[in-house]
Amino acid sequence: MAGLESISTVFCFLFFSFTALFSLFSLLVFILRLRPWCNCHVCRNFLTSSWTKDFDNFCDWYTHLLRKSPTGTIHLHVLGNIVTSNPENVEHILKTRFDNYPKGKPFTVILGDLLGRGIFNVDGDTWRFQRKMASLELGSLSVRSHALEVVAAEIHSRLIPLLASVSGKESNGGVLDLQDVFRRFSFDNICKFSFGLDPGCLEPSLPASKFADAFDLASKLSAERAMTSSPVLWKIKRFFNAGSEKQLKEAVTMIDDLAKEMIRQRREMGFGAKNDLLSRFMATVDDDKYLRDIVVSFLLAGRDTISSGLTSLFYLLSQHPEVTQAIREESDRVMGRAGATPSFEQMREMHYLHAVLYETMRLFPPVQFDSKFCQEDDVLPDGTFVKSGTRVTYHPYAMGRMESIWGPDCLDFKPERWLKNGIYSPESSYRYPVFQAGERVCLGKELALVEMKCVAVALIRRFDIQVSQPGQAPRFAPGLTATVRGGLPVRVEEREG
Ligand code: HEM
Repeated sequence: MAGLESISTVFCFLFFSFTALFSLFSLLVFILRLRPWCNCHVCRNFLTSSWTKDFDNFCDWYTHLLRKSPTGTIHLHVLGNIVTSNPENVEHILKTRFDNYPKGKPFTVILGDLLGRGIFNVDGDTWRFQRKMASLELGSLSVRSHALEVVAAEIHSRLIPLLASVSGKESNGGVLDLQDVFRRFSFDNICKFSFGLDPGCLEPSLPASKFADAFDLASKLSAERAMTSSPVLWKIKRFFNAGSEKQLKEAVTMIDDLAKEMIRQRREMGFGAKNDLLSRFMATVDDDKYLRDIVVSFLLAGRDTISSGLTSLFYLLSQHPEVTQAIREESDRVMGRAGATPSFEQMREMHYLHAVLYETMRLFPPVQFDSKFCQEDDVLPDGTFVKSGTRVTYHPYAMGRMESIWGPDCLDFKPERWLKNGIYSPESSYRYPVFQAGERVCLGKELALVEMKCVAVALIRRFDIQVSQPGQAPRFAPGLTATVRGGLPVRVEEREG
């Protein structure tokens, strides 16, 4: 017994010594990798969070700084981050010197646990392969028609009945969280479209979905990693499987298990004749882990972005009844009084609706900012020097609020700014990088616009939707896409006739 006790004492001693040494080592690495201390007012405001005294949202503070900067570019030294709202810089990063501004290793590591080798998180040949495959799929007519069928079915069988069921009711004080409804709606759609499986999140009981919740948590915690001043901080937590890193690991394990199960089911059911994206990728890719990564990226791409865009649309419409009225008139003219959702041809004729969506996302882009990492020292067109290894961020949210780009009425919601003689007139994607631009421009743009148009027309024609507190500016929660804290509570009334 005495022998056993001494062995366990030695074991405990070794264990604690190792832990203490490791902690010391981590602390040393942390100190060595801390960004140089900077006492400029921007870095001080960031480190002391004093910007929160004047601004509700981080993106509003950045917008304020970028509007004041003569070049439209700022440098947050403590984060090693150059942020720009200058369209010439954006073109330089996303097109002219595309190869010098990859996603880069720091992001691949930050998002690696959630996204793996999915398209959002890779560069080089792996990215090229997925982009080619995905653009063939998303560009194909049959996939687009399939997507429209999926969306129309979800609108008719779930979205409209749900809103009709709360119309005029005083249950819940007559209030419905429209952001939550859109998140459920777009999650059902993207799962049906990507996997061919229906999670049923928008069923009348609004059931909790473990998968959707795990997804929310994992994307929120992954985004928070990028906000720490040094990656060593979250890496230590991950090593000890502690706090938010433990939660992230659990959420990712759940996503992995569900994705594996979906892939298994698809393989059993046979995927040859199916139209969903997973089946199409399965015809070329054998590796289940890789398939999981591909599909998770698509879920992320197609879910929160669309619900974010729709939430902002209804927030803005409730402050602009004249825009709602103009959409009704246009849809009546193009579709007649019958039918809830428009066809592809009818959508093409609705220039005003198209302009409304572009104007909505100018003020409230679903992806508020996006970063790359500079590979070799470079100079941006506005003269900013960029040292290799620096994170460079372009900021669509701030860009939508720049007088230099949109004129003195840049803060006003004016769909007409996109129309010339009633016909939609596009703007350079480097001035409006809401869908990114250049080599990595969003592959789901057309699909997203189709989905958003269908929802907008179906709901606006059938219901009056009033936001409960229309004067309250949105406050955003941290995450990879813009999500409003507290949701968007609305009152719904079914229209006559
Ligand atoms: C309003 C809706 C949407 C917006 C605002 C949007 C915006 C964006 C942005 C900013 C990027 C660049 C992200 C980055 O590189 O970090 C992107 C990439 C991408 N988007 Fe979208 N997106 C939307 C909807 C969709 C949908 C519905 C899909 C697919 C079903 C999709 C598929 C993709 C893919 C595959 C990429 C990666 C492209 C690449 O890296 O080559 N997106 N999107």
